[in-house]
Amino acid sequence: MRAGEVTAAESESALGQIPSGLLGGRKPPRNRSPKPDCQLVLKEGHGEVVYEAHVCKNAEPSSPLCESIDTGPVLQSLVRRYQVRKRPVTVNFRNLLPALNSPDRFTHLIHPYPAKLLTHIPFFFLANDLLSKPGDIVLDPFCGSGTVLLEAWLADRNVYGVDANPLARLIARVKTNPLNPIKLRLALDQIIGRIPKEPAGPLPDVVNIKHWFYPSTAKKLQCLREAIGGIEDPATRDFFLVCFSVCLRKVSLADPRLSVPVRLKLGQYPEDHPLHTETNALVRSLRRVNVANIFTRVSSANIARMEKLAASKGESFVALPCSDARNLTFEFPLNGNRGLSIADRSVQLIITSPPYPGAQKYIRSSSLSLGWLNLCVSSELRAYKAGTIGREEFRREECKCIPSTNIADADKLLDDIAKRNLTRAVIAATYLNEMRDALGEMYRVLQPGGSLVIVAANNRIAKREFRTVEYLKAIADQIGLTLMACFIDAIRSRGLMTKRNHTASVITREWILIFTKGDLPEWSLSDKHS
Ligand SMILES: C[S@@+](CC[C@H](N)C(=O)[O-])C[C@H]1O[C@@H](n2cnc3c(N)ncnc32)[C@H](O)[C@@H]1O
Repeated sequence: MRAGEVTAAESESALGQIPSGLLGGRKPPRNRSPKPDCQLVLKEGHGEVVYEAHVCKNAEPSSPLCESIDTGPVLQSLVRRYQVRKRPVTVNFRNLLPALNSPDRFTHLIHPYPAKLLTHIPFFFLANDLLSKPGDIVLDPFCGSGTVLLEAWLADRNVYGVDANPLARLIARVKTNPLNPIKLRLALDQIIGRIPKEPAGPLPDVVNIKHWFYPSTAKKLQCLREAIGGIEDPATRDFFLVCFSVCLRKVSLADPRLSVPVRLKLGQYPEDHPLHTETNALVRSLRRVNVANIFTRVSSANIARMEKLAASKGESFVALPCSDARNLTFEFPLNGNRGLSIADRSVQLIITSPPYPGAQKYIRSSSLSLGWLNLCVSSELRAYKAGTIGREEFRREECKCIPSTNIADADKLLDDIAKRNLTRAVIAATYLNEMRDALGEMYRVLQPGGSLVIVAANNRIAKREFRTVEYLKAIADQIGLTLMACFIDAIRSRGLMTKRNHTASVITREWILIFTKGDLPEWSLSDKHS
């Protein structure tokens, strides 16, 4: 299957009927009767109420022990606390689930991706029966590299993922598709054994390829790419394309410390700078880099991850039917059913971390991989960027006036921002309007009683605080969603940070908003309410 394609069975489920074959042979539901060290005990911190619990402190992140954690009682307690106080509840997800603090859980680390979601968050909302049950459909309409998809699949949910970035869709699909590690090792030997001395074809259409790769490296990469292309099984080939993509940044002249490509140079830092020696050594070593060795190392580590995933093989499905959260319509021919939408009221739970206005350049940061993997030629990059919510590139004629957002506070602030910087105001207003379209689609596909968990943060635009979280809450309210709870988690490291000289600022706290479609469920109401 090609990227984004779904099977006929999946297309049926999109119409609201999950094919019986997919559910009939399910592995038995996970045993959620907590073992003593899997029980959650809430601790309140001093001053601010901070919830933590030390669950499975010493467990391996991929161990079955993690799968027996039941977060239901804690979720219920946190939601009820919010319902009583109507103030955000501070939750420390890393302390709540320390077993997940080592990020190498199953295939999560198969490929880097900007602004990845903390695995604890989807795990927390999926390890209970309150928001969804095994066999239900879970959706992430901004799935990126598939953190939610993998956690939902591990929790026996059927999963839809959507993303505008074709590289994200490839990573997410490979990450959630268990492959036989023995076959992968044989395929790796085959690839290495078949690398030609000279490439058969021309170099791919990678934007500014000579700027980013020494000619000798580009030639070695092309030879390796051709050897991977010789693998017949599409899923195995995709797995090795993901490994190849990981290598690209390692052998390119792009600064490994930054998510968007910025070229390293000899003498880039003055002699007394702490990065002077390291950077010069890196630039020199890149001249004679051994591409095949790096590829073998990356692939072996990813096969070891896949081994853990294959051991946990379930029956639920993961599908990536489309690329735009504003239009959840199948984009690929499915038995002639082109254009069918993910069915109204078919999804039980949505967990997502949407893009922020101007915070990450997803397409630009993936541009080397997009070209080398033939996912997008350089002339198409602009169109891909235009499909990305939160983008910064606007044509001059698009920046003549600020569109109304229908949120009085936001419109007032944007008028002020426009006095300083009209373009920034247009970027932010467009962001809110496009998020309104995306939230409208989420509302359409959610079942009555279904839930939406959004992870978002505020940022600064043109020196003014831009309260993205408040505005998303206002939009959700306008489209008919009910706020069930609001939590706050401090971000320690997410590769999300953006610092644009004097106009933007570092994002330091994440808000987790939980909405429901319809009335609040019984379990969320405190005794006082019920
Ligand atoms: C914060 S990232 C999600 C990261 C993801 N949770 C993970 O762990 O990898 C936001 C994602 O939204 C995607 N995106 C931007 N505009 C989109 C659109 N119109 N439709 C779908 N996805 C979009 C970006 O490509 C990016 O991957």
